[in-house]
Amino acid sequence: MMRVFNRRVWSLALLICLLSMLSNFHGKGVMASHNVHLRYQTNNVEKVKQVYRTGYHFQPKKNWMNDPNAPMYYKGFYHLFYQYNPKGAVWGNIVWGHSVSKDMINWIPLEPAIVPSKPFDKYGCWSGSATILPGDKPVIIYTGIINEKPEPGHQAQSYAIPANYSDPYLRKWIKPDNNPIIKPIHENVSSFRDPTTAWFNNGHWKLIVGSKNNRRGITYLYRSRDFIKWTKAKHPFHTKKDVGMWECPDFYPISSQGTNGLDTSTLGDNVKYVFKASLDITRFDYYTIGSYNLVKDKYVPDNTSVDGWAGLRYDYGNFYASKTFFDPIKKRRILWGWANESSTRSEDIAKGWAGIQLIPRKVWLDPSGHKLLQWPINELERLRDQKIELSSVKINKGDTIEVKGINVVQADVDVTFTFSSLDKAELYDKKWENFPPEDLAKSICGIKGATVQGGLGPFGLLTLASSKLEEYTPVFFRIFKTTNKKHKVLFCSDATPSSINKNEYKPSFGGFVDVDLTTKKLSLRSLIDHSVVESFAEGGKTVISSRVYPTLAINENAHLHLFNNGSEIVMIERLNAWSMKTAHIN
Ligand code: FRU
Repeated sequence: MMRVFNRRVWSLALLICLLSMLSNFHGKGVMASHNVHLRYQTNNVEKVKQVYRTGYHFQPKKNWMNDPNAPMYYKGFYHLFYQYNPKGAVWGNIVWGHSVSKDMINWIPLEPAIVPSKPFDKYGCWSGSATILPGDKPVIIYTGIINEKPEPGHQAQSYAIPANYSDPYLRKWIKPDNNPIIKPIHENVSSFRDPTTAWFNNGHWKLIVGSKNNRRGITYLYRSRDFIKWTKAKHPFHTKKDVGMWECPDFYPISSQGTNGLDTSTLGDNVKYVFKASLDITRFDYYTIGSYNLVKDKYVPDNTSVDGWAGLRYDYGNFYASKTFFDPIKKRRILWGWANESSTRSEDIAKGWAGIQLIPRKVWLDPSGHKLLQWPINELERLRDQKIELSSVKINKGDTIEVKGINVVQADVDVTFTFSSLDKAELYDKKWENFPPEDLAKSICGIKGATVQGGLGPFGLLTLASSKLEEYTPVFFRIFKTTNKKHKVLFCSDATPSSINKNEYKPSFGGFVDVDLTTKKLSLRSLIDHSVVESFAEGGKTVISSRVYPTLAINENAHLHLFNNGSEIVMIERLNAWSMKTAHIN
């Protein structure tokens, strides 16, 4: 196994390196998410292709899905709404799909909750959020498209309320005729969308709406006493130049102590705030940690938080248009994020479906106060089935060790690596500082893939691997030392070798892990699910999700290996891996 790996990897190394460098020169190297494909958007799905469907990640039975909308808890059920095309596997005809769950893992499908039917949302019911008003009364505010022109549509915010508050499924929603309640009062009528959950203080409900002015990202703040009549604040809530449209903003308080979440209206001494924006141009979700100036009703990022394209991301891979909510039952804040397909449009049409939601994650503040930590909700662990354990296993340079005895195509893998010295860490190349900061980690992962031998690393997992390693998706660490004797830990999830099919988008994603290496340990958890590999480094400090479509490494033909391609020996201190049962999803 080791020799096959080494021979192939060397001959492939150059090619992979060149290809990934090329992909970095393609604009931002990201996939457009929902372009308008009029011809295909109403194209009945006859048959759904099963091979890449997920066993435990949320997806509708068929058709296109994008953003998660209005997640909430109501009378014993978690609700998830989502942007959905009921008529095809590409974006278009957007309605609010709706499912309910007791545990956010198994889901019951319901009829779409909000569909275009009124003059104020005739051309689409776009993203929005839920607020639970006093007396346990949910209300949704969403973006209605009131005219097709100007592209991508004239946008205004409308509200919907449950037809029957005693129905825990909240099957029927009413859109009162006094809609829309928030109309754009600036010229940018086609960039004014995705209202957040509202919060309450100083006698007013407040929410923000995403927008832009040329290349400046803007969120406008609106206030209301009664939730119906909304007034725009004089100043934007937060704005940043040169970032482009801010889609799906999110704003919430976070406790500076412990891991519990806070209700969105919480104020207090030990409270920090998170502001997130989804960047339409680069297609990733970045956030800052900061404070909320109650007098001016403005958000101010801390000076330790980079505000812009080079800022922190929830996920350094395929993850977009995310939204959080406060779970009052388990007192936690939960993050939902959408992972688009990386396959081609014609492949999506042939599959009959597109889009998944990643596993909901609990989010809380890292003790440093400078970033968030994220971890899959523990309800997921109920799907764990057959288990394999390893401990104190050595991986020499060039070795791979196969993890056998579980269903590796649908698995949860948790591993801790140790090493005895940092001496062999490669030198960090100063030239890399010339890469755009927002692409730095990704670019280095592109150059230094799993097959490029190193000092301390690369080591990690080869997921969804075919028997002769023609295909595999490596998830790995590589440690560098800088000239001032500091260490940088690079974390990569590389789709480049994931499939022999040449058509797909196969990016090499990367992020740095801010970790103290004195313990000489690094941990990794990967959730592998047919066409998704969702990986958490160091207890959720850095997360990367990849969508991949192997042609050989499918179902029982998939393999999982641990590998080390660095000269420093790496030990598996502990590995726990489980087959995952299939969840009941829709
Ligand atoms: C983000 C987004 C939102 C919009 C929705 C339309 O992916 O573009 O800004 O409301 O999708 O489906």
